[in-house]
Amino acid sequence: MEPVRAVKGMNDVLPAESVQWQRVEAAFRRTAALYGFREVRTPLVEATRLFVRAVGEGTDIVDKEMYSFKHHDEELTLRPEGTAGAARAYVEHKVHALEPVTRWYYLGPMFRAEKPQRGRYRQFSQAGAEVFGDPGPGCDAEMIDMLVTFLKSIGVPDIEVLVNSIGSGETRARYRELLRAHLEGKVVSEDSQRRLEQNPLRILDSKDPRDQAACEGAPSILDALGDEDRKHFDDFRRLLDTLGVAYRVEPKLVRGLDYYTRTLFEIKGAKQKLGAGDTLLGGGRYDAMVEELGGPSVPALGFAAGIDRLLIAGEPSGAEPAVDAFIAPLGDVAVGHALALARELRTRGVAVEADTRGGSLKSLLRRANALGARLVLILGEGELARGVVALKDLAGHAQEEVPRDRAAAIAADRLAASGAVRKEEP
Ligand code: HAM
Repeated sequence: MEPVRAVKGMNDVLPAESVQWQRVEAAFRRTAALYGFREVRTPLVEATRLFVRAVGEGTDIVDKEMYSFKHHDEELTLRPEGTAGAARAYVEHKVHALEPVTRWYYLGPMFRAEKPQRGRYRQFSQAGAEVFGDPGPGCDAEMIDMLVTFLKSIGVPDIEVLVNSIGSGETRARYRELLRAHLEGKVVSEDSQRRLEQNPLRILDSKDPRDQAACEGAPSILDALGDEDRKHFDDFRRLLDTLGVAYRVEPKLVRGLDYYTRTLFEIKGAKQKLGAGDTLLGGGRYDAMVEELGGPSVPALGFAAGIDRLLIAGEPSGAEPAVDAFIAPLGDVAVGHALALARELRTRGVAVEADTRGGSLKSLLRRANALGARLVLILGEGELARGVVALKDLAGHAQEEVPRDRAAAIAADRLAASGAVRKEEP
């Protein structure tokens, strides 16, 4: 049979790499907890109409990239992003009635049928967060500050924060007309001819040279902001200045999802490693979504970072040992003793592999080394007869005999003293 391969754009993460994933995920969970976010887990599959309504028709995601299918009579979609599901859950569980402000974070896979390339996959993972119930702009500024702190903590170089405001509904309606008037009679790409009707703002961040030329000299959305929107944006920027967060205002930043209002932002970094796809995360306000999904009028703000990209951008950590200790039983009789000793060690928090395949001491020591074990506990016939265990320190190359009934305690103490025991999961 032809070997079965992974689906295009969907990647395996093998253990050598998953260590890096765990490190970034742990750093994210730690940061989120420090800022009062708690984890929400929503389904990977949602009703298709949720994304059509929330993300919007006319966006690349809804028009081209969703993995949608019909199961019996239900139209379903693998989630392309996390915000719509979080807002759906917020409305469905009437969370607004439980607390005035809700801070949720999530980690997990998203699905978009995009053309795969470095840093762009069809299954990718996001680390995101959403705040419901805070109209900002203090919360907007704090979110940016948290993100910069997080990116620095995982070693991302050359962090660049871009911010913009696309105002509220009225501002956008006014600006859409200004932009349409500017683009009238100009040559734009086929995609943008469609966007002119549905969502002309998207033409601003098109990569097509025809669109870029047509947008030359277009009015800036910042000039079209209404008074309230302008004050929100000015206050947001002032707070970023107070916090000492460097940023650049990018009036052409519109982002690819339709739900945004007012604050928009993207953070780029590690350009040398990521090239053109150096947008690590994006987000903004979506003050109208909760109400549109049938809830009360509750303002909201959030972001999502692509973990796949963070891994390319961040500082890789060194390889971690698979276990702390290895048990080498010599001969069939010793295997049962080895398994019992392994169980004892694990209750003391020592990660351990006990050999059950058999082999010479030399080959077992090779295996222990390959696993990165610090200690090897050898159980040969002689040791069993004398009620002892040979304890070998692979780092110090010392070997000694210890009583069998105290072997686990002594090994655990040695590992603790050398700082080599498992760290608690966060
Ligand atoms: P987004 O800009 O579509 O926003 O995605 C956020 C991040 O996810 C991107 O900056 C990128 O790092 C990563 N990403 C997106 N597509 C891919 C892909 N195909 N492969 C790898 N990484 C990818 C959102 O998803 C919004 N839900 C963010 C948000 C939350 N806005 C408000 N709340």
